[in-house]
Amino acid sequence: MVFSKKIKECDLVIFGTKGDLSKRKLFPALYQLEESLKLYKNTKIIGVGRADWTQEYYKKIIKKYIKKFSYRKFKKKIWKKFSNRLYFCNIDVNKFSNFLKLKKIFKKEKKIKIYYFAIPQNTFKNIFKGLKKINYNYIQDRIILEKPIGNSLETSKKINNQVGKYFQEKQIFRIDHYLGKETILNLLSLKFSNSIFFTNWNKSTIDHIQITVAEKIGIEGRWNYFDKIGQMRDMIQNHLLQILCILTMSPPINLQSNSIRDEKLKILKSLRMINEKNVNKNTVRGQYKSGFFKNKNIPGYIDEINSIKNSNTETFVSIKVNIDNSQWHGVPFYLRTGKRLPLKHSEIVIYFKKNDFNLFNNFKKKLPLNKIVIRLEPNEGIDIFILNKIPKLDSKYELKEIKLNFDYKKTFNKCTLYNAYERLLLESFLGSQSLFVRRDEIEESWKWIDSIINAWNKKKSKLELYTAGTWGPKSSNTLLKKDGRFWNKIK
Ligand SMILES: NC(=O)c1ccc[n+]([C@@H]2O[C@H](COP(=O)([O-])OP(=O)(O)OC[C@H]3O[C@@H](n4cnc5c(N)ncnc54)[C@H](OP(=O)(O)O)[C@@H]3O)[C@@H](O)[C@H]2O)c1
Repeated sequence: MVFSKKIKECDLVIFGTKGDLSKRKLFPALYQLEESLKLYKNTKIIGVGRADWTQEYYKKIIKKYIKKFSYRKFKKKIWKKFSNRLYFCNIDVNKFSNFLKLKKIFKKEKKIKIYYFAIPQNTFKNIFKGLKKINYNYIQDRIILEKPIGNSLETSKKINNQVGKYFQEKQIFRIDHYLGKETILNLLSLKFSNSIFFTNWNKSTIDHIQITVAEKIGIEGRWNYFDKIGQMRDMIQNHLLQILCILTMSPPINLQSNSIRDEKLKILKSLRMINEKNVNKNTVRGQYKSGFFKNKNIPGYIDEINSIKNSNTETFVSIKVNIDNSQWHGVPFYLRTGKRLPLKHSEIVIYFKKNDFNLFNNFKKKLPLNKIVIRLEPNEGIDIFILNKIPKLDSKYELKEIKLNFDYKKTFNKCTLYNAYERLLLESFLGSQSLFVRRDEIEESWKWIDSIINAWNKKKSKLELYTAGTWGPKSSNTLLKKDGRFWNKIK
């Protein structure tokens, strides 16, 4: 057992056990934690759902999820141990009397209870009421909420108020799975434990920063959900803003949850507002049309199953962001994210300012900017691009851009790269909130996002079509080109 003796054991209840998130992420991650010996000995995993499943059938379904979606090889011995933890509880969360069934499973054990809400937001209120009815909401218990929390400042406040009636902030774990990624966590050590980066991580040396989160997939049967949300709310409000915060925040006073979250909040509060006056200059919104990629015909967004033909929802966004504080004033941050792009790829690219004087002017007129590419996924790693003299026996200084490369898998070949859900589930068992988002962060980010979406609506901002399998609308390139810059070429 790896946990400290001080920490009490817990049970996990997953509302929405039959859903997509449980299937693809939660159960595989829990099984992987079992294999890594990270689960408490007596932890029960209780799946809640409306399906009329027997315990045996439930276990059969979970086994199927794990075999299909776990990155680890299925092992009978591990499965035997894991399956002994599994219980199914047939509850329609809209029927409060159903919650009594949970009581029977918990019996009188005094373990911490963690409730994972892998279920639509409109059911939250009834779950809170149901748990209260059976008195299963002790101060030691925790809830895990998935993103997005609401779809605007107003609706997120409503949800946060509802949750706040039943649970205190220290019991609430709001997930943004990007915060569980090894590469995102490493940004803290990269910046704060290396003086070569720490002293250069500001407007004096950095020219601009690009953040790309590209998805190759389209809507995957989730059109009804996505069309109401769009890429701005689905990706920028949470993942990209959280990456931006971690990347740009000042050193926290320590590594405790609130110290880190206080610093992230300062960044969110320093984001320059984008409104009707500057929205067209600073944002691009696109939607994919059908395309032909690797000999395959790809349908457009409005050709997907269950679509509405005149949908105005964006599947691509790029934004120029400014942070108005003393560290970053004048440094532009270009963010882009979209569906049906050529690759699944996430990266941060940091471009450094050029020297005022070019000593090598006779040999190379225009020196490229030094850059650091942090690959978040796939092939996690860091590349640093610098200029090097080509070795020769003459007096010429011929320069060539070369790459210093760090690859996680090669360097840490004896370590496992755990995935984000493994880490976040484990952190929630341990009761540590540093990798979860606080209420004020969520609300501050919605304030900024709402302003852009309202400006889009008021200005009737154009939705630019882009061909599936390309890097988005032309205007996304223009956004940088007019500043004399280009998106980093992703191969
Ligand atoms: N899927 C992802 O990768 C992902 C990523 C990030 C965040 N999220 C968030 O996670 C949540 C779940 O997403 P999802 O994609 O897993 O949704 P989903 O596939 O639609 O699953 C939702 C689950 O909720 C259950 N449910 C709905 N109403 C219920 C009720 N009255 N009583 C009991 N169970 C009920 C459904 O049960 P039935 O099967 O009985 O209908 C279903 O199992 C959403 O808030 C979503 O925004 C999902």
